[in-house]
Amino acid sequence: MGWYMLRWDERYRLGNLDIDMQHRKLFELVNNLSQMAKIGITPELSRIIEELKAYARLHFKFEESVFSKSEYHNIDSHIRAHDKFIFRVNSFERILEENKEDLDISIIVNFLNSWLITHILQEDMEYKRFILTTDITHEQ
Ligand SMILES: [Fe+2]
Repeated sequence: MGWYMLRWDERYRLGNLDIDMQHRKLFELVNNLSQMAKIGITPELSRIIEELKAYARLHFKFEESVFSKSEYHNIDSHIRAHDKFIFRVNSFERILEENKEDLDISIIVNFLNSWLITHILQEDMEYKRFILTTDITHEQ
C-alpha cells in the first residue's frame, strides 16, 4: 500500500478563513507525519504526532467556539467526535512508546488521513451553513 498525501481542495472550504487555514495546517502536519513514517519509527515521528495533537486541540477549541455561537444543532456530538480523535491519538502515542517490532505504522497514518478528510467533509460541513448565515442576514 502506498503513502497517501493530502491535497487541499475547494471542496474542503468552510468559508471561515481561520478554520480553513487551520485545516490546511492540519493537512500539512499529517503529510509531514506520512513522510516521516516512510523512514520508520523514530523519535522524530513521536514529536510530529505530539505536534499534531497539540495543534488539533487548539483548532478544535477554536472551531467549537465558532459553532457554539451559531444555531448549529449538533454541538455536543461534534465535540465528542473531537474528543474521541484526541483519545485515539493518545492511544497511538502509547502504541509507539511500546516500540513493538511488528507495528505497522501505515495503519496509524491511514487512520489520521481518512479521519481528517471524513471529519471535514461530513461533520464540519454540517455547521458550514450556520456559521455563514449569521453575517449574511445582518447585512440585509
Ligand atoms: Fe470539527
